[in-house]
Amino acid sequence: MPAKDVEARFQALDAFLVEHQGLWKPRPFTHRQLPWEAEHPDLAHWLRQRSLADAEASHNGPHDLAAPAPFPQLAAQALQLGAVDKLPAQPLAPARPRLNVDVPGRKWAQIEAFGAALQFAQAPTHWLDWCAGKGHLGRRLLQDDQALTCLEYDPALIAAGQALSDHHGLAVTHRLQDVMADVTLGPEHTPVALHACGDLHVRLLRLASAVGCKQLAFAPCCYNRVQSDTYQPLSSAGHASRLQLSIDDLGLPLSETVTAGRRVRLQRDTSMARRLGFDQLQRELRGCDEYLPTPSLPAHWLDKPFADYCRDLATLKGLSTGEQDWPALEAHGWRRLAQVRNLELVRGLFRRPLELWLVLDRALFLGENGYKVEVGSFCEPALTPRNLMVLAERD
Ligand SMILES: C[S@@+](CC[C@H](N)C(=O)[O-])C[C@H]1O[C@@H](n2cnc3c(N)ncnc32)[C@H](O)[C@@H]1O
Repeated sequence: MPAKDVEARFQALDAFLVEHQGLWKPRPFTHRQLPWEAEHPDLAHWLRQRSLADAEASHNGPHDLAAPAPFPQLAAQALQLGAVDKLPAQPLAPARPRLNVDVPGRKWAQIEAFGAALQFAQAPTHWLDWCAGKGHLGRRLLQDDQALTCLEYDPALIAAGQALSDHHGLAVTHRLQDVMADVTLGPEHTPVALHACGDLHVRLLRLASAVGCKQLAFAPCCYNRVQSDTYQPLSSAGHASRLQLSIDDLGLPLSETVTAGRRVRLQRDTSMARRLGFDQLQRELRGCDEYLPTPSLPAHWLDKPFADYCRDLATLKGLSTGEQDWPALEAHGWRRLAQVRNLELVRGLFRRPLELWLVLDRALFLGENGYKVEVGSFCEPALTPRNLMVLAERD
């Protein structure tokens, strides 16, 4: 998406998200009855009678669902507003021999795609791999006449990255650096950030604009990993928006998943069905029809019998269960899980529009700071659902 279209698209997305926030903000997991169900009873009924397998099959592509109104209309709008072109790609110089050793295949493919989409008018002289992990991205981009600094705060990743760079005979600086603290960054740097979480990539945008980096590129992820309780917009258009986003809301774009294996799915479903079974119980015990947040639990809790799971979780929350019809409660949890997953398909329509709204807020911020920006996808969502990328350059 060229710079000239960014503001118009942001405004269109903003209007769409604000108008329909009653549909995508409430989470079926925490609401037994969603506020919009009274307004759209046919849609709610249709979704509620579908199975868990039906929901699973539609999860990553809810747009095609032949559901009652207003689902198809919203789906069409969401598709149109969430569409972005793939960024033009040009082949990278061949990788140095065995550079991808120790890099998982999917990660390497992401790096190749990210690198191929990097097109700057001026050739970078000093790459800065922001939140670099072991620095695989930076090493893949590095050419003979260029320098590379990798910033990372995990000492083990720094050591492993340094060993890899040494092994390949590359003069790379792996610097132990908390990017939220004081960072030395200069106009000579070309920062790149592949999947730096919420605050981490926002910090990069602010710093890079302030110190005068001429060009940078990033693919954001984990929009919900931020210190603040609510979303802090970056651009003027973001500040002017009526959209108030909670941390929960910021998690919506991340709910698209790369298809998990059967075992992982079963574990995830069991965990959620148990929580929903417990949710029913706690509502009865407390005489209060409200969701009660519970802590994340170690995986071995799923090996306990359901009754013990509920008793132990109740104890953690200062409740006492007494004797219950445990099989009925467990079955209730699974029934609710199917309903929750199907009702979530409505929220799923807003996943990409919200993500694009967030990315365009970043792009607009850079535009306000003198950058010419380009927004697009750098790879297919099957490789990573976090496939949006912003390229920014200024004179
Ligand atoms: C999702 S990983 C991405 C790593 C790499 N860019 C990649 O694509 O493989 C995020 C990285 O950020 C690092 N990180 C998290 N917080 C950080 C901070 N405050 N300062 C520097 N690095 C940080 C993590 O240790 C992790 O390596």
